[in-house]
Amino acid sequence: MKAVQINRYGGYEVLEINQNAPTPSIDKEQVLVKVQAASINPFDGAVRSGALQKMAPLQFPITLGGDFSGIVSEVGTDVSEYKVGDEVYGSANILSGGSGSFAEYAQVRISNMAKKPKNADFIESAALPLVGSSAVQALEEHIKLQNKQKILIHGGAGGIGHIAIQLAKALGAYVATTVSTDDMEFVKKLGADEIVDHKLQKFEEMLRDFDAVFDTVGGETTNRSFKVLKRGGVMVTMVGQPDAKLAEEYGVTAIGQGSKVNTQHLIRLAELVDAGKIKVNVDKILLLNEVKEAFKYQEEGHPRGKVALEVKK
Ligand SMILES: NC(=O)c1ccc[n+]([C@@H]2O[C@H](COP(=O)([O-])OP(=O)(O)OC[C@H]3O[C@@H](n4cnc5c(N)ncnc54)[C@H](OP(=O)(O)O)[C@@H]3O)[C@@H](O)[C@H]2O)c1
Repeated sequence: MKAVQINRYGGYEVLEINQNAPTPSIDKEQVLVKVQAASINPFDGAVRSGALQKMAPLQFPITLGGDFSGIVSEVGTDVSEYKVGDEVYGSANILSGGSGSFAEYAQVRISNMAKKPKNADFIESAALPLVGSSAVQALEEHIKLQNKQKILIHGGAGGIGHIAIQLAKALGAYVATTVSTDDMEFVKKLGADEIVDHKLQKFEEMLRDFDAVFDTVGGETTNRSFKVLKRGGVMVTMVGQPDAKLAEEYGVTAIGQGSKVNTQHLIRLAELVDAGKIKVNVDKILLLNEVKEAFKYQEEGHPRGKVALEVKK
């Protein structure tokens, strides 16, 4: 089968298309999926560059990719939840027990997948798993965002941010978000109530007494965000661990989230998509053979929402 693999860590140049990669074999708790589409996350770039090699040493060749949508083509002997022909989505990341989704077939653990949303095609479904699960986990589980509460979402035009804005609005919250000048119209259409241009304005001088901050940017943005929260507020950051001392000083809860693409989050996400509350924005669709261009666009092209790979062609 065809697969996007690396045999060493590095930049776009290490990406190879292997036309003869072995089709993965499954164990009793896995399924084999004929991949229809996949999408790129910053995490895939971190695997490719070797940024994660100390934390999770891997053996080459590595098939890249986590997010996928596809059709079940084989089920393990202990799997009763799925049958051949089911349309599914989830994560086939090698670090979560999969074989990599940038390939014609992927081996997937059933704990990392669910039936795909009916209201989304294969490309849209493949764009959802990590960003959508991250937003559901942060807003509904950690923050427990309520009607009329105020939330600041950093990086509102990105993969996670643009889903989080829609989820927060669906939950009835008042949403402020930080973006670049070019993305202001995009997040306005998603429903953001207050938009801060992060290059021209200082959000911590404009926003006060917020119930929550969802930070998808990290770095100095995380520390500056404490000022926006009221006492008892909650901050969730996707990037690193927030400063516990600052959290105590400001009297807030601060959480560094490790996102889980699990069945529970994927079912909830599909429910929100099918109810018309969330629609993923796929900025660009490329083919598996165009994976270098796809990575370059994800990392340097400032996409609005997601970059997807169409695999079945
Ligand atoms: N902890 C976990 O389990 C986990 C899981 C998933 C993702 N992550 C991390 O979460 C982060 C976001 O992921 P993603 O998929 O949403 O990435 P993404 O699609 O690249 O989105 C990031 C967004 O942030 C914007 N941005 C950059 N600097 C900003 C600033 N100072 N203020 C406001 N916006 C800014 C970017 O805009 P421009 O393009 O215009 O710069 C972009 O729209 C990444 O660092 C990723 O590695 C962590």
